[in-house]
Amino acid sequence: MSENIHSTSKVSDLLAQGPAVPYLAVDQSPPLEGEALLLGAKNATLVIMTSLILTKGVSILRNIPANDDVIHMIQLLEKLGAKIAFDPNTNVLEVDTRALEDYHVPLEMMKMMRASVLVMGPLLARFGKAEIAFPGGDVIGARPVDYHLINFQKMGVVIEQHGQVVHGHTQHVKARNLLLEYPSVGATENLMMFATRTPGTTRIINAALEPEVFDLIAVLKKMGARIQVDAPATITITGVEELKPVEHTVIFDRMEAAALLVAGAITGGYIHLPQGPAHSMGMLLMKFQEMGHTILIHPSGTGIKIKATKTPTAISIKTAPYPGFATDMQAYMMAALTLAQGMSRVQETVFENRLMHAKELSKMGAQIDVVHDTALIRGVEQLYGTHVIASDIRASCALVLAGLVAEGRTTISGVYHWKRGYQGLEGKLRALGANITLYE
Ligand code: UD1
Repeated sequence: MSENIHSTSKVSDLLAQGPAVPYLAVDQSPPLEGEALLLGAKNATLVIMTSLILTKGVSILRNIPANDDVIHMIQLLEKLGAKIAFDPNTNVLEVDTRALEDYHVPLEMMKMMRASVLVMGPLLARFGKAEIAFPGGDVIGARPVDYHLINFQKMGVVIEQHGQVVHGHTQHVKARNLLLEYPSVGATENLMMFATRTPGTTRIINAALEPEVFDLIAVLKKMGARIQVDAPATITITGVEELKPVEHTVIFDRMEAAALLVAGAITGGYIHLPQGPAHSMGMLLMKFQEMGHTILIHPSGTGIKIKATKTPTAISIKTAPYPGFATDMQAYMMAALTLAQGMSRVQETVFENRLMHAKELSKMGAQIDVVHDTALIRGVEQLYGTHVIASDIRASCALVLAGLVAEGRTTISGVYHWKRGYQGLEGKLRALGANITLYE
């Protein structure tokens, strides 16, 4: 009898805990208030790590976030032969590329994250050979790599594809003018890294000019690369024979900053980000102001405060390459707009399948209609906690943000996306007053 009672209470305990671990639990929280510090930009970190393949020696990178994508990139570079020391407490990464001699990246590693494709340019530059497989990553669209491959071919790389494996080797390498059909971040970075060691002058026209691309340029220049950026959106690279190891502090993460600011906005709170890169977040900050929030920017361009209005109004956003509204901030903003008075419009133009969080937000009581690439959002008075599923890194955060204001408890599965993108963001939100727990 007592055994039965025991087992019954165990089941109810389990049910009360929510879904199978790992998951995030977010309870309705008070307005978030306080100051938060940022880590380095994940997207800058990943490509800068691959750029070290271009050098032979010991480089030191600071401000490196210990998220799972960065850990995967460490494993990938180690597989190629690099010796790596990483301290997630100090966020300092030391990479010794002297013994790096492998140029094959196995399918399992490529599948872990799409950014793995960014080893191709550096491997071709160092060894004249690279073997990768078609990358995996978020489920936010087809995400082909044709701009990378077509332009490597134009520069004299022979590309052969066998199933999922792509093999490239250099033959009569030549610098060229490369015109990108779309300013792809990854293609710009990959081609630029290859061009740093390609004799002659390469021009990438209609290049991506995201802040993370500029951080890569800063690193490549420290290595000794010759790179110039001119209007209209043209990066000119003059190849050099050798590049040397570097020390570099990665730029602060505008995506983490945006998440924290939306956390302040959605809860009607007050957040100060002393390191907030306002100079590269203009479009988001302007949209906050349109909603009625007060934004204060430090005159240096670094440092942002948001004082949120309790009655935000609906706005329209349309994602675009930088300096347009960043696609990576779109999901966060959609969470905030579910509670803005009136009808908001969110158009996603960068990735064709990046509105999947709309369905999950609707489960929480949001009123969202998705028509093709556009979400029409009618602001509601209240969201309600329920179980939702994260479909990509930014969606996982959007659901956390919505959970902060939803009545009751929101549980979020698909936590591995959260862990891919953020180091300890749940702790930062908790310090600002959020009721959030990561169950692992
Ligand atoms: C990077 C970022 C990602 C961000 C995106 C857009 C990293 C690790 N990831 O991804 O967080 O959301 O920029 O700011 O830095 N495309 C092609 N062919 C190609 C390459 C891209 O058609 O060869 C298309 C893509 O499918 C997409 C668009 O171009 O529709 C933009 O993609 P791209 O800028 O390349 O994004 P990523 O570099 O993959």
